[in-house]
Amino acid sequence: MPRHPFQSLPVPAEQASTLAARGLRFGLVDLDDEAQCAAWLRADLRGFYADDPEDGELADRFTPFRDSRLAAVWDDSAADSATPVATVSSWPTRLTTPGERDVEAWAISSVTVAPTHRRRGIARALLESELTAAREHGAPLAVLTVSEATIYGRFGFSPAAFAASLSIEQRRATWSGSVPDGRVHLVERTVLREQAPEIERRARRAVPGEVDRWPRLWDRMFALTGDTKKDAGALRAVRYDDGTGEPQGFALYRVAEQGSDFTKHRVTVTELIAATPDAYAALWRYLLELDLVSEITVGLRSVDEPLRWQVADARAVRTTDVTDHLWVRILDVPAAFAARGYAAEGSLVLDVDDPDGIAGGRYLLTAHSDGSGECAPLDGEAPDGSAHLALDVRALGSLYLGGVSASTLAAAGRITEQTPRAAVAADALLRSPIAPRLSIWF
Ligand SMILES: CC(C)(COP(=O)(O)OP(=O)(O)OC[C@H]1O[C@@H](n2cnc3c(N)ncnc32)[C@H](O)[C@@H]1OP(=O)(O)O)[C@@H](O)C(=O)NCCC(=O)NCCS
Repeated sequence: MPRHPFQSLPVPAEQASTLAARGLRFGLVDLDDEAQCAAWLRADLRGFYADDPEDGELADRFTPFRDSRLAAVWDDSAADSATPVATVSSWPTRLTTPGERDVEAWAISSVTVAPTHRRRGIARALLESELTAAREHGAPLAVLTVSEATIYGRFGFSPAAFAASLSIEQRRATWSGSVPDGRVHLVERTVLREQAPEIERRARRAVPGEVDRWPRLWDRMFALTGDTKKDAGALRAVRYDDGTGEPQGFALYRVAEQGSDFTKHRVTVTELIAATPDAYAALWRYLLELDLVSEITVGLRSVDEPLRWQVADARAVRTTDVTDHLWVRILDVPAAFAARGYAAEGSLVLDVDDPDGIAGGRYLLTAHSDGSGECAPLDGEAPDGSAHLALDVRALGSLYLGGVSASTLAAAGRITEQTPRAAVAADALLRSPIAPRLSIWF
């Protein structure tokens, strides 16, 4: 039985009949049909070149999908007609927005099409179906993380949060930040696993771009699931408790030898979550002062990490990669923009072009001195004196979390200023003091 009403939102007749005309069957996965669920999971994993799981692992690995809406495309003429030729999953999630607010977003994942069926419009049908379901559910926007940056723009998605990978030359990165009065403790993974979600809940409140994590994701991070247990031995866990003994942050990391020199271990940080600046400082200081280590690497970090400003030699913290990570597709402009905070008071007229006919129109965005804002369709002329921009729905999605500058997009020709310096005015309203970040893949 589906656990949530959204899981039963049907695939739209339009996309189902488009695919039916090509001999394909598009529908929802029956969550009560164990064999169908197992075949769906196998198709999803195959799509991402993951190993085919053992039969005994399937039920455990399928667990998180029991809370998602799963759709698939079947080809009844294929040799293995029980295994879908395409998969997609989705679920509503809270997305943190600027100003310590949040919005319900429609998360889309598991987009796969079998190599035997690619480039026949199946992914297009999946994505169009998802955007319809998202709107029927009432989500003002959809979000996803992408394997390739060239696929999703055509569906109105655009990068809104970026991720940095860092490589730190540990001995050069002498700690010069504060030394908090709390303590870092080495802790049992199983104990920390229980405390981690509450710490993360507080930590993410101020970070636009973060989405809800789900129980099995936590279990995987702590190497507590069947497929991750083999990696458990090397995973170290530390927790920072503040001066009153309250847990405020934690880090998970692995240490590996590099060659024969025992003084040059490499540390890979797989998680560092801090609900307070003190927790952040104490955990990084702990890692930077580990003995017998020469390099620390970490991925999915902010593009604006305070760490750079907390070491004696900032060049020891090298950004090895910056990539788009969270992609946003605005579906309902007024609802999306009412659900975020604003850095300044003011108003902005937005002429939004949406080739898919979903979010286009003229809108008036008004931001108040208390950080709240509202957005409404605007009939007729823009009010005198308001800044006025014309942009497509993708540029709007990139602006949404406040991490992409309207001035940059205007310079790139992605936004047209209808009044002088409208992009600067937009930046004053929309910018986020904390760079948007998403610390997981989904
Ligand atoms: C990427 C993938 C889902 C595309 O599926 P598909 O059914 O072949 O795509 P479609 O035929 O529906 O193509 C839809 C559109 O995307 C374009 N497109 C498809 N794959 C693309 C790619 N890899 N790069 C750029 N554009 C792509 C098509 O040209 C088409 O454009 P148009 O409709 O504007 O003319 C499929 O190749 C796949 O499963 N790849 C491996 C898993 C993966 O990368 N999934 C994405 C997870 S984020």
